[in-house]
Amino acid sequence: MKVHIKTEEEIEKMRIAGRLAADVLEMIEPHVVPGVSTGELDRICHDYMVNELDCIPAPLNYKGFPKSICTSINQVICHGIPSDSKCIKSGDIINIDITVIKDGYHGDTSRMFHVGKVQPHLKRLVDNTQHCLYLGIQQVKPGATLGDIGHVIQKHAEQNYYSVVQEYCGHGIGKGFHEEPQVLHYGKPSEGMELVAGMTFTIEPMINAGKRHTKLSKFDGWTVETKDGRPSAQFEHTILVTEAGCEILTLRSDEVLPDFLHNTVSPLKVASA
Ligand code: MF3
Ligand code: CO
Ligand code: CO
Repeated sequence: MKVHIKTEEEIEKMRIAGRLAADVLEMIEPHVVPGVSTGELDRICHDYMVNELDCIPAPLNYKGFPKSICTSINQVICHGIPSDSKCIKSGDIINIDITVIKDGYHGDTSRMFHVGKVQPHLKRLVDNTQHCLYLGIQQVKPGATLGDIGHVIQKHAEQNYYSVVQEYCGHGIGKGFHEEPQVLHYGKPSEGMELVAGMTFTIEPMINAGKRHTKLSKFDGWTVETKDGRPSAQFEHTILVTEAGCEILTLRSDEVLPDFLHNTVSPLKVASA
């Protein structure tokens, strides 16, 4: 296994890339309203990344992906392709996934948005999926294992009668978009690779309201949907393992962390201290 432990210089670049990715998600929020097309959301993000933040949208041309962000609506689990003919409507839930490259390093983050008025059962799915991410982050410290992360995510999801997608997972990140290790969102405590300070990886649980099974679009080769057509939600952060626990490199300034994330240092708060 070739997991790269980042140097202090690399970590500083990862902090910058992470903050820029988070900045894009903050910027796009007021545009996520009924009637806007996902193609328009893509254009706004692309222009902001390239012209305002001076960074590269990592998805564009990545393994042939045609756009700069991923937009995944309702039963779409991940990798939805923005399109001018796909407009979001009141009642939808949508994940926007942003990955930037700045000075050679990647920052990768996604969150769900409610579009207009959303049904309570969908809000519950979205809130529980974010909680799964936070529970996973809570596990991150040197000596913990990847299995510890996967286990708490799977446990919380299944306790709420949801299922965890298995075909897609979190990943190491740095100079590469997808580095070792794979970060599964299910597993058993104390199994899998041990975490070491200086590792950077994403945690990005995809939680389904129905069954866990997925289907890949035959038309575009990218869009991943639930097999049963029921909705799915996802949140993603890029995480640095530190001696004390971890830093959320993609924390947004509008994001309120639960109290139990006391092992987590925000680079935003470090910078402004
Ligand atoms: N950002 C996604 C992830 O979290 C990957 C998107 S790959 C793309 O790993 F090609 F679809 F953009
Ligand atoms: Co990712
Ligand atoms: Co992502």
